[in-house]
Amino acid sequence: MTIPFRYRRLGYVALNVSDLAASSTFYRDRVGLDLSEAQDDVVALRCSRDHHNLLLYPAEVPGIKRIGFELESRADLDTARDYIAGLGLAIEVVAAAELKRLRTVAAFRFRLPGSGLCFEFFVQMMQLAQAYKPSVTKIERLGHVVLNVADFDGALGFLTDKLGFRVSDFVPGFAAFLRCFPNPLHHSLAILTGANDHLNHVNFMVQDIDDVGVAMNRMKKAEVEIVFGPGRHQPSESIFLYFLDPDRMTVEYSFGMETFPEIQPREARLLEPVPGTLDAWGSVPTPAFGQIGQIEQAADANPSSAANAASAGAARVSAEHSGALA
Ligand SMILES: [Fe+2]
Repeated sequence: MTIPFRYRRLGYVALNVSDLAASSTFYRDRVGLDLSEAQDDVVALRCSRDHHNLLLYPAEVPGIKRIGFELESRADLDTARDYIAGLGLAIEVVAAAELKRLRTVAAFRFRLPGSGLCFEFFVQMMQLAQAYKPSVTKIERLGHVVLNVADFDGALGFLTDKLGFRVSDFVPGFAAFLRCFPNPLHHSLAILTGANDHLNHVNFMVQDIDDVGVAMNRMKKAEVEIVFGPGRHQPSESIFLYFLDPDRMTVEYSFGMETFPEIQPREARLLEPVPGTLDAWGSVPTPAFGQIGQIEQAADANPSSAANAASAGAARVSAEHSGALA
């Protein structure tokens, strides 16, 4: 199947957190994001000029609320909306008031079959006048999100055949590292097999190998629990460190990543299912690694947004919000 739209990049991830103040402080002061905007029911943080690369929402159960991918153009967004609706998925309108709050011109949402995870496709997020200012570490970008899924083959088939992700490397039935084509990064999304569907971790790429080493000592000093690493992933060749946020959700720093050309990229590699594939340096994840992170379901979401679910045609009209940048 030809995929009729093009991704630009992974734009942001939205997390549900049990203590908004504690998590906001953690992601600002320990992870090193800039606070863009704090409201009672959502906190926006960034590691770029984007208004947000991380959104934190207060919730009883910690986990992942949504993943936002930016598409290349408004035309891609319109085409994608019709295409996704054509797959039989319900299009969730993002009301004009929410778009305005999220400083985004246009977006729509839908849910992955199986896991129920909310995907947002958007274009034109506000670019802030002031550049991101690295504090405790030099974050290069929001790197990727990894999910555990019970139906590995079903999830992989949908993401690749229907949503246009390309496999960069894989372990059959166990792991797949996916790039949001034509974005060149080795993976912006990855799936791992699991007993149930949940968030495994959120990654921030850093600019320097020293950022990883310094972070290890910085986290230890702050009594932040390190759950894996430092080490080097064989698939992406990244040097990594994983640690826990206040809800014990797993966060990763990584340095370095292979990039792929759009034309004639190498074939996906079939990787051996051994621990050395995960870490060439030999560290082993602790039992707390990648455990916490419930996937918010449609029924758990804000009733007002559920009530906004509508047909693709209505979505196109309602999602217009040219005043978002005002
Ligand atoms: Fe990762």
